[in-house]
Amino acid sequence: MRLSATYSSSALICLPLLLLLSLFPADARCQEQTVCLQCHGAQTGKGGAPVKAWRGSVHADNGISCNDCHGGDPRDAANAMSPVRGFLGVPGETGIPAFCGRCHVGIREEYLKSAHGRALGKGGPTCVTCHGSHTVMKATLDLINDKNCSRCHPYDRASVIKEAMRQTDGSITDIARKIQQFKGEGINIEVQEKSLFDLRNRYHRLFHVVDVGRVKQESEVIRQGLGTIEQALAKLDERNKRRKIVGTTVVAGLLLATLLSYLLKKTFDN
Ligand code: HEC
Ligand code: HEC
Ligand code: HEC
Ligand code: HEC
Ligand code: HEC
Repeated sequence: MRLSATYSSSALICLPLLLLLSLFPADARCQEQTVCLQCHGAQTGKGGAPVKAWRGSVHADNGISCNDCHGGDPRDAANAMSPVRGFLGVPGETGIPAFCGRCHVGIREEYLKSAHGRALGKGGPTCVTCHGSHTVMKATLDLINDKNCSRCHPYDRASVIKEAMRQTDGSITDIARKIQQFKGEGINIEVQEKSLFDLRNRYHRLFHVVDVGRVKQESEVIRQGLGTIEQALAKLDERNKRRKIVGTTVVAGLLLATLLSYLLKKTFDN
C-alpha cells in the first residue's frame, strides 16, 4: 500500500536522525526548550512550581507549552513577557473560561450556557476548579465524585448525570475496540471510525451542560448513533466470517486434491 510505503521510507530517514539526536542531552533535544521553561524552570517557589506541575500533563504531552496559554515570546528572554509580544499574564477567575476556551471552543460554549457558567464569578466552578491549571490530565467520568462535586451543593444531581453517562461511555469504548480489531485485519472502516469520532466528541462535551434532562436526552440520541455503527460492524463481521469460511474451504479443497493425486501417483508407482 502507498501509505505503508511512505511510512517505511520516512522511518528509514528518521532512524539515523533519532540516533544522531540521542547523542545530545535530553534538554537540547526537545523543541519544548523555550525561554519560559528555561527561566521559570530555574526558579524556586511560585515561579518554578508551574513548570514541575505542567510536566506530565496532557498539555505537555501534546506540545501545549507556557506561551501557548499565557502568550508572550518563547524565543526572546528579554522581551518574553512583554504585552507587545502578546503576553496575556494570569487570567482572573472570570477570565478563565475564555482563556481555556480559545482552544476548547465547543466546551466553552456548553459551559457558559450551563448553571455553572451562569454562576461564574458568583460561586460557580471554572475550568480550573475541576481540571486544574497546570496539572491538567485526560478527563474521565472519575472527575465526577463526592469529593469534587459536593463542595458547593449536594452530590445527588451529579451522581444522576454520572450514571446517565456511564453506559454510553462503555459502548464507546467497546466500539472503539472493535474498530481497532477490524483495522488490524486490514478491513476498511473509515466511515464508522469518523462517525464514532464525531459522536465521541459530542458525548464528551455533554457533561459541561450539567443539566440532568439534557444529558439524558442527548445520551439517547448519541446511543442511537452508536447503535447504527454497531449494526454496520456486525454486518462487516458477518461478511468477514463468510470470506474466511470460503477461504478455508478452498484451502481444504486444494489440500485434499494434492493428497488424492499423491495417493493416485503412489498406486500407479506400485
Ligand atoms: C528571564 C526570566 C523569565 C523569562 C524568560 C520568562 N519569565 Fe515569566 N516570570 C519571571 C519572573 C521573575 C516572574 C515573577 C515576577 C513578576 O510577577 O513580574 C514571572 C512571572 C510570570 C507569570 C505570572 C505573572 C503574574 O502576573 O503573576 C507568568 C504567567 C509567566 N511569568 C509566564 C511566562 C511565559 C509564558 C514566558 C515565556 C513566553 C515567561 N514567563 C518567560 C521570569 C521570566
Ligand atoms: C493550559 C494552560 C496553561 C499552561 C500550559 C500554563 N499555564 Fe500557567 N496558568 C494558567 C492558568 C489558568 C493560571 C491561573 C491559575 C489559577 O487561577 O488557578 C496560571 C497561572 C500561572 C502563574 C501564576 C501562579 C500564581 O500562583 O500566581 C504562573 C507563574 C504561571 N502560570 C506560569 C506558567 C509557566 C511557567 C508555564 C509553563 C510551564 C505555564 N504557566 C503553563 C494556565 C496555563
Ligand atoms: C464541574 C466540573 C467541570 C468544569 C467546571 C469543567 N469541566 Fe471539563 N470536564 C469535566 C468532566 C467530569 C469531564 C469528563 C466528561 C466525560 O468523560 O465525558 C470533562 C471533560 C473535559 C474535556 C475532555 C473532552 C473530551 O473530548 O474528552 C476537556 C477538554 C474539558 N473538560 C475542558 C474544560 C474547559 C475548557 C472548561 C471551562 C470552559 C471545563 N472543562 C469546565 C468537568 C468539568
Ligand atoms: C493553546 C490551546 C489550548 C489551551 C489554551 C488549553 N488547552 Fe487544553 N488541550 C489542548 C490540546 C491540544 C489538548 C490535547 C488534545 C485533546 O485532547 O484535545 C488539550 C487537552 C485538554 C484536556 C484533556 C482532554 C481529554 O481528551 O481528556 C483537558 C481536560 C484540557 N485540555 C483542559 C484545559 C483547561 C482547563 C485549559 C485552561 C486552563 C486548557 N485546556 C487550555 C489545547 C489547549
Ligand atoms: C465551586 C462550586 C461548585 C462545584 C465544585 C461544583 N458545582 Fe455544580 N453548581 C454550582 C452552582 C453555583 C450551581 C447553580 C446553583 C445550583 O443549582 O445549585 C451548580 C449547579 C449544578 C447542577 C444543576 C444544574 C441545573 O441546571 O439544574 C448540577 C447537575 C451540578 N452543579 C453538577 C456538578 C458536578 C457533577 C460537579 C463536580 C464535577 C459540580 N457540580 C461541582 C457550583 C459548583
